[in-house]
Amino acid sequence: MQIQLTTTQPLSADTLILPIQQTDDLPEVLNALADRFNLTPAALQHDFKADFREILPLYQSEGRKTYLLGLGKELTAMIWLRAFRDLFFRQKDRLTPTVGVDLSGFDADVIESVVLGIRWGGYDLKLHSTAKPKTTEFYSEEGVLEIYITDQQQGIAEEVLHRAEAIAATHRQMLDLMNSPSNYKIPQVLADWAIASGQQHGYSVTVFDKAEIERQGLLALLSVNKGSEHPPVFIIAEYKPDNLPDAKKVGLVGKGVTFDTGGISIKPSTGMHLMKSDMGGAAAVLGTMEVAAKLRLPVHLIGIIPATENMVDGHATKPGDVIGSYLGKTIEVIDTDAEGRIILADGLGYMVRNFQPDVLIDLATLTGSVIGTLGYHAAGLFSNNDDLTSQLLKSATQTGERLWPLPLWDVYKEDIQSDVADLKNFSGKPLAGAISAAKFLEVFTESHPAWAHLDIAGMAFTDTEFGTQKNATGFGIRLLIDFLRNG
Ligand code: BES
Ligand code: MN
Ligand code: ZN
Repeated sequence: MQIQLTTTQPLSADTLILPIQQTDDLPEVLNALADRFNLTPAALQHDFKADFREILPLYQSEGRKTYLLGLGKELTAMIWLRAFRDLFFRQKDRLTPTVGVDLSGFDADVIESVVLGIRWGGYDLKLHSTAKPKTTEFYSEEGVLEIYITDQQQGIAEEVLHRAEAIAATHRQMLDLMNSPSNYKIPQVLADWAIASGQQHGYSVTVFDKAEIERQGLLALLSVNKGSEHPPVFIIAEYKPDNLPDAKKVGLVGKGVTFDTGGISIKPSTGMHLMKSDMGGAAAVLGTMEVAAKLRLPVHLIGIIPATENMVDGHATKPGDVIGSYLGKTIEVIDTDAEGRIILADGLGYMVRNFQPDVLIDLATLTGSVIGTLGYHAAGLFSNNDDLTSQLLKSATQTGERLWPLPLWDVYKEDIQSDVADLKNFSGKPLAGAISAAKFLEVFTESHPAWAHLDIAGMAFTDTEFGTQKNATGFGIRLLIDFLRNG
């Protein structure tokens, strides 16, 4: 499907979508529409309230069709995105090859959300189904999306469309990686993706294999990998903008656990299959690297992904074992299921020792506790820096990828004090688990002055109307791109 911007009316599309906000003027807006489509005004007002995601198809002569699409009262990026994703997902078989969307009069930024929603609406979860659904006409090569805008919007619209398409294409690949089963997604698959992406989009990617990980002394990562037949990888991606030697240096670290059984502290089997998605932090970091490089953003970005499975076998690390780490600190492994913080210890340690970024952000599907705290509606934000906190919160509001602050007070440090090692990976208590995990990570940032930890366990993989099981959201890419553009 191709996307075209147009300022000329009427649209050539046989299907037209008119997004309608629920304002006080709704009766007048509907009366004007009734006039335009030859309808009874009272009937139209009765049947369409412009509720969020409400759809009313109006049939016209010569097979033309117009959908009124309700947006509800408040217009945010996420509302636009979800309304369009929903309409295109539900109606995809009923769309004509050319579809028009009337965005005239709306803020040009809306184009980004609408394009992302429409692209996502065509996303197919059936990665491994042999009965592939036929590509619909609209989503095939011949499909065309015409976006109608005004002359005033034109200047910025091209740029917004370009950005939206860049994000949408990367986002889709991250959805595939997240939804991919672990037997198709061993750590090397993440490394191969990063290498190919770096070559295509002009950023450097170095992958440490197991031997190099041993030489480097990334002992914490190695300890989590011990029960797995697949070797770990340590991915280092670096994007530098051209001719900008003083660009701000941002370090991103993402948890890349391609499957989390819990290890010897094994998880219950109900829901364990969802742990193929325990690389949501890695997906956010890889996706952000690729989009930043595509858009040639004026920031110096470094992405680090420690990646491994967390498996059970005779070689696996056992509860009570004491392991080393890249920074030399010793860790008592109370619970082998608290493996994310262990591999992030090496990711963060390597980042601060070798790159000294101005800003350090890690993302991880780290704790069930953050889901207990914030549910599936926001990721936990932990930061020692108020400016960074407010910039990230601003991007969260802007994109609708919600974050909410949680504390890093030192009183929680006792949760990770060990009798036999420098620290332990679990307090042993079912209390404040997301916070003690963050306190654990803090130790490996070497007091970095601008660090943020995003616990995205509830946001990376969620229930939706688009599948019967939880599935990938791609959480973090839009958030971080907005942060990098404006932060
Ligand atoms: N990957 C899980 C956290 C998780 C849970 C992500 C649910 C997504 C959905 C993590 O490795 C884990 O197992 N955390 C444990 C830590 C505990 C043993 C201290 C948890 O939160 O239960
Ligand atoms: Mn775990
Ligand atoms: Zn995990």
